[in-house]
This record gives sequence, structure tokens and C-alpha cells, in this order.
Amino acid sequence: MRKLVVAGNWKMVKTCAETEAFASAFSQKINRSFSVETIVFPPFTSLSAARKALPNMVKLGGQNLYPAIEGAFTGEISPGMLVELGCSHVLIGHSERRQYFHEDPAFLARKLEAAFTAGLCPVLCIGETLEQYEAGTTQAVLASQLKQSLEPIKAACLANPFIIAYEPVWAIGTGKVATAEYAQEVHAFVRKVLADCLSSTLAETIQILYGGSVKPNNAVELLSQPDIDGALIGGASLDPDSFFDIIVGAHDLKK
Ligand code: PGA
Repeated sequence: MRKLVVAGNWKMVKTCAETEAFASAFSQKINRSFSVETIVFPPFTSLSAARKALPNMVKLGGQNLYPAIEGAFTGEISPGMLVELGCSHVLIGHSERRQYFHEDPAFLARKLEAAFTAGLCPVLCIGETLEQYEAGTTQAVLASQLKQSLEPIKAACLANPFIIAYEPVWAIGTGKVATAEYAQEVHAFVRKVLADCLSSTLAETIQILYGGSVKPNNAVELLSQPDIDGALIGGASLDPDSFFDIIVGAHDLKK
């Protein structure tokens, strides 16, 4: 049984003071426990404030890491630094990293390995662009993104927990959400590729999240699909009310 995940990717938004304000409003809403794994990915500079101010039910993740223990990599953050700040998760290969910072699948494989070595649970993001979607190459693109990043990793590493986030690039921040049927079809395909790369037993345990314009009014329909195990949420995770509403909707599904 895969637990539903509701994850908020804050991107380059929220100072420490804004993080504290979010946490205070969000904490006031928590009056019971939820059968949903909740994760927030704040900017690096707000991680410490987030850990202090958010309730314990919220896990913390980094938005990126550099695949080295330490060294002369100005501006980068090591896996151990994330762990020290209370992170249990890390985003790897978000489409904005691939697009603006030219991160390729081979480099992402190194990041995945570094995350596993540090005991972090990586969330590997994959997704097709609008051009690839319109050209009908979605499945080929996703299979190649997955295989190129997973195949270089040792099998023993891949036995550790990790999460996949399928985020069609054309749906990120655009308000154009994929239909639940389309997303389910793609998620089922991603699980099949995972079964080919790993094993069908392992593929059944991996949580595959959908991301791209998830809001309180469309989350439940998406999350009720059999192969959609949660959501990676950008815009709607910045507001404590809408993030909380998505968590409640996911909890009530009792998948
Ligand atoms: P969005 O972002 O929910 O604002 O579309 C999702 C993401 O980029 O992870």
C-alpha cells in the first residue's frame, strides 16, 4: 500500500520571516493527525526557520544538492548540509533545473547517488515539454529520462526509498492541468518503465506524484487515480489555506 504524499515546492519564494508566517497560519489548522505524508521544499535559506516553525508532521526537503561531500563548489549545497538542517528529502532534476541550469540525466544520476549515500529520499522529477507533448513523444521522453538517471545507479542504492514526480512542463505554473485520465495513463506507463528498470515488486512500492497546476479544486480527482500517489505542488503550496485543503482532500480519500 503506497501512502499518499502532498509535497510543496516553494521554489525561490519565501524569506525566513515569510516561512514563519506560513508555519504559524498552517500550524493553527492542524487539530488532528493525517494519513498523508506531507513534505515542504523551502529555499535553502529558509530551511532552518521551516524546521523550527512547522509542525513535526511536515517533513522537510531541499530543492537541490551538489553531488560531493564538500569542496570548492562555490554556491552549492552538499547532501550532508541538508541532513544537518533536518531534511529527509531532496528534489532532483526539477524541470526548471533541467531547463535553466542545463542539468542532464547523467549529472542527475550522480545527484541521486549522492542523495542515497547521505540517507536522503530523492524525488526525481521527470516531464515532457509542450513541443514533446504535441509531437506525441511523451512516453519516449519519460522512458529516456528515467533510464538515463536510474541505470547508472547501483541496484543496492535503488532498494532505498525514492519518489518519482511526473510534471508535464506545459502544466507547471500555467494553470493548464493535465486531465486525470491523461495523468493516470502516464503514471501507469512510468510504473511500467520502473518495473523494467528495477522489478515489478519494487515498482509497486514507488510513490509517483503528479505535479503541474495542482489546486484544491482539482487535487482530489487527480489523487483518486490508482497510479497517482500524491502531488508536487508549486503555487498552491505557498498559501497555508490551499496547501492545507489539499492535505485534507488527500486524507479523506483514504487510499
Ligand atoms: P505549480 O508548480 O503547481 O505552480 O504548477 C509545480 C512544480 O513546479 O513543482
